[in-house]
Amino acid sequence: MQYGIQDAIKIYEDVDSWKTVIFLYNAALKEVGTKLEILNEEFQHVHQYNPIEHIKTRIKTPESIVKKLKRYGYETSIENMVKYVNDIAGVRMICSFTSDIYRLAEMIGNQSDLKVISIKDYIKNPKTSGYRSYHMLVSVPIFLSDSVVNTRVEIQIRTIAMDFWASLEHKIYYKFEGNAPEYISQELQECAEMVSELDDKMLSLNEAILAFQGGKVTPYDKKDEHVQEHAKRQIMMGLG
Ligand code: GTP
Ligand code: MG
Repeated sequence: MQYGIQDAIKIYEDVDSWKTVIFLYNAALKEVGTKLEILNEEFQHVHQYNPIEHIKTRIKTPESIVKKLKRYGYETSIENMVKYVNDIAGVRMICSFTSDIYRLAEMIGNQSDLKVISIKDYIKNPKTSGYRSYHMLVSVPIFLSDSVVNTRVEIQIRTIAMDFWASLEHKIYYKFEGNAPEYISQELQECAEMVSELDDKMLSLNEAILAFQGGKVTPYDKKDEHVQEHAKRQIMMGLG
């Protein structure tokens, strides 16, 4: 039998529903975590390169679940939580370059047993706070003894620099409960721009290094040519 998580609570009639839900979300995190590790290892195997710097997984705390339901205007219940809170199981993938993000997103989308429910590209469309990340909501089948339960997992993909920014912003947001002084929000937005520029520069530099190693120079625009020349000089001077 195929179930959505809403119906799954009924599978184990005599077991505490909360425990059933947490058991399922934990299983989903393991499934998705393993998938991502395999994709990373395959990439290493074929291209001698790891697109994933590291992976963090977490189950949302009961306090944050209740807080979110309140914010959305729903009563606290297990039914509402599985229906309306999409990030009970969360995976965060940290990459070196923005190109890795899109490569990984595509690989995730191509996994035939994962269903992509929605995508939010906060890199192409950053939030007003300056927040940048690529979000995917997926559903993963959990194979149980006599049923299959499709369980939702939120995947966030971002660079090391975006992650650095997001952790500080998160801290500030909590510290001021969403009402940070104007100059702090302003400076944070400026930092977000700097992070974005840094990511662009690191990407061009990496491409320049790759082109140098491969002995071929692919056409870039003028700015990238300059970066490429700079990278080559660095390598020749032993600084690379
Ligand atoms: P919630 O914002 O979680 O209610 O749900 P949503 O449907 O609006 O999802 P969204 O994709 O906007 O955000 C989901 C998650 O992304 C959040 O729980 C955070 O982990 C992260 N996130 C979104 N916006 C920001 C932001 O401005 N700053 C930081 N630090 N994290 C953010
Ligand atoms: Mg939000």
